[in-house]
Amino acid sequence: MDEVQKNKNIIAVKKLTTRFGRRIIHRDLDLEVRRGEVMGLIGSSGGGKTVLMQHIMGLLKPASGSIELFGEAIEEMTSEEFRHIALRWGVLFQQGALFSAMTVFDNIAFPFRELKKYGEGVDDETMRQLVFLKLKMAGLEAEDAWKYPAELSGGMVKRAALARALALDAELLFLDEPTSGLDPIRSAEFDSLLLELRQEMQLSALLVTHDLESLALLCDRIAILDEGKVLATGTLEEVARLDHPFVKKFFETRPGEKRLRSIQH
Ligand SMILES: Nc1ncnc2c1ncn2[C@@H]1O[C@H](COP(=O)(O)OP(=O)(O)OP(=O)(O)O)[C@@H](O)[C@H]1O
Ligand SMILES: [Mg+2]
Repeated sequence: MDEVQKNKNIIAVKKLTTRFGRRIIHRDLDLEVRRGEVMGLIGSSGGGKTVLMQHIMGLLKPASGSIELFGEAIEEMTSEEFRHIALRWGVLFQQGALFSAMTVFDNIAFPFRELKKYGEGVDDETMRQLVFLKLKMAGLEAEDAWKYPAELSGGMVKRAALARALALDAELLFLDEPTSGLDPIRSAEFDSLLLELRQEMQLSALLVTHDLESLALLCDRIAILDEGKVLATGTLEEVARLDHPFVKKFFETRPGEKRLRSIQH
């Protein structure tokens, strides 16, 4: 990757405002994620992290502001153009990570079938091989392909969802608390898997997490969302030094402490 490419933003959010009724969730929020960068997003619960991701993915329209993805303004795209560009990213939702009525195989095959609608798909045999490859990359067994989400453990659901997010070799990943609900060991395993993938695939990602260990291991920079704005962005060391109530509270918990607590309970 040359320097020019590297410095380009893969996500640029400008002056974004969100309102639900009279409640203002974001107010003139700015956020930039560079190509090749993993940006962590932290902020208090209900602060608007998931909603921000929904805006960036075009699932929810903001009251005002602009969003550029891969250097293009999404509000200027036709819905057809948008659906097409959406195939360049993968997403792991905070809730409902998989289609419950589909097997793991069909879940992972879903993006390939979507791509086919644009005449860009691969043939069925290649798709089958790619689905099994992604399954393996995500640390699942071939036999898991025929299971339904209800038959999987929480960690397996996350892995299958990651396999689907990576199906089309996504350039950009949206990960909304990928390790929440996993036990400390599964959580650490999932982090290492993401780290490996990021090194192999030169991914860019926006990662929402409450987990200090995930932030330390995976993120180049961290953005702090507070009171509707990105208060600051910087490396973990830089943001940890900020004199701000949310930041102080967040970093009061030393790395490992949360996991230790969850083992003790
Ligand atoms: N579709 C919606 N309609 C109305 N209000 C909504 C909608 N989606 C989210 N909200 C509200 O917007 C606020 C921000 O929600 P959001 O899910 O983005 O928080 P979050 O930062 O992701 O929290 P958490 O860390 O708990 O996941 C919340 O008060 C939520 O109730
Ligand atoms: Mg959320």
